[in-house]
Amino acid sequence: MANVNARIIGTGRAYPEGVLTNADLEKLVDTTDEWIVQRVGIKQRHKAAEGEYTSLFAVRAARQAIERAGVDPAEIDLIICATVTPDQLLPSTGCIIQTELGAHKAAAFDLAAACSGFLYGLTLANSMISTGQSRLALVIGAELLTRYVDYTDRSTCVIFGDGAGAAVVAPSDGERGILSTRIRSDGRYAEQLFAPGGGTRIGHSAESLARGDYFYKMRGNELFKVAVRSMTEVSRAVLEEAGYTADDVKLFIPHQANQRITSSVAEKLKVDPAIVYSNISEHGNTSSASIPIALDECVEVGRVNEGDLVLLASFGGGVTWGGVLIKW
Ligand code: ACO
Repeated sequence: MANVNARIIGTGRAYPEGVLTNADLEKLVDTTDEWIVQRVGIKQRHKAAEGEYTSLFAVRAARQAIERAGVDPAEIDLIICATVTPDQLLPSTGCIIQTELGAHKAAAFDLAAACSGFLYGLTLANSMISTGQSRLALVIGAELLTRYVDYTDRSTCVIFGDGAGAAVVAPSDGERGILSTRIRSDGRYAEQLFAPGGGTRIGHSAESLARGDYFYKMRGNELFKVAVRSMTEVSRAVLEEAGYTADDVKLFIPHQANQRITSSVAEKLKVDPAIVYSNISEHGNTSSASIPIALDECVEVGRVNEGDLVLLASFGGGVTWGGVLIKW
């Protein structure tokens, strides 16, 4: 039995009311509802309205997680906001969230690991708690990806959506909690999903804006293969480390990138399709928010029960990937 260090004691989620359906996208680019559903598994995605911003949803998700955990925000000593779509570059969205929550005792910051951000954050919180540097952590995944999507590029605009998910993490009181974690990255694959503009390399100019440098560029086909391979490997690694096999898993939540990626990973791991959670049809790919949103949905409908083995696996731009195994 692996050491149990930290445990999720509350989850929450939030997303914009606005929805972009496949029918809406059919009017924008040369695509069809049939293609999107068959090739990706998405029917709609939430899309923030003008005036809405990332921390708005992050704070809502965090408040729900805090309420369900039954803790005082003033006691939170660590806030990790996983995002690649922050409110602004300075200060961090983590600090903005901290102020909104009144968690003035916390160290707050942003973590950029794309779709693996939440699992990177959970791994970090687990380590901070296990070393006694944190007693109560808040891990959030929050993204407004639709702000970085080129709505003339059919290969990316059908995929991404907006939302936020959060988890309150506290020291474990027994055998339940995070059993094993693993995070990895490989920058050699950076150009499979990237936005060249918006930072210091290209700079802010009218030309850069006109070229759409800050829009996501993606080599979907190549990414697909790396995603399946790395999520499968990392899932096996966290299971092995904790002394379990895929047969022991009661709930598998993979990052919601593409229904075919989810199915391929589940098939390779040989897990029963009934334990694999999917909400991609409603949310699309919300990057770092995808796993915590899914986890909160599972908690809410009682799809995860005390003692269940829960496997989380992610993959994202960078490229990054990660796995977390939890005894709920
Ligand atoms: N509607 C209709 N046709 C389309 C669309 C669309 N929306 N998008 C692409 N096509 C066309 C292509 O132009 C191509 O046409 P062609 O054969 O005439 O050239 C054809 O469909 C096949 O294109 P592929 O790219 O090979 O399609 P594929 O089946 O691989 O699906 C997809 C594309 C959905 C992007 C898939 O590759 C995928 O999901 N990849 C992984 C993406 C991913 O996970 N990204 C996020 C990572 S997470 C993060 O960090 C945010």
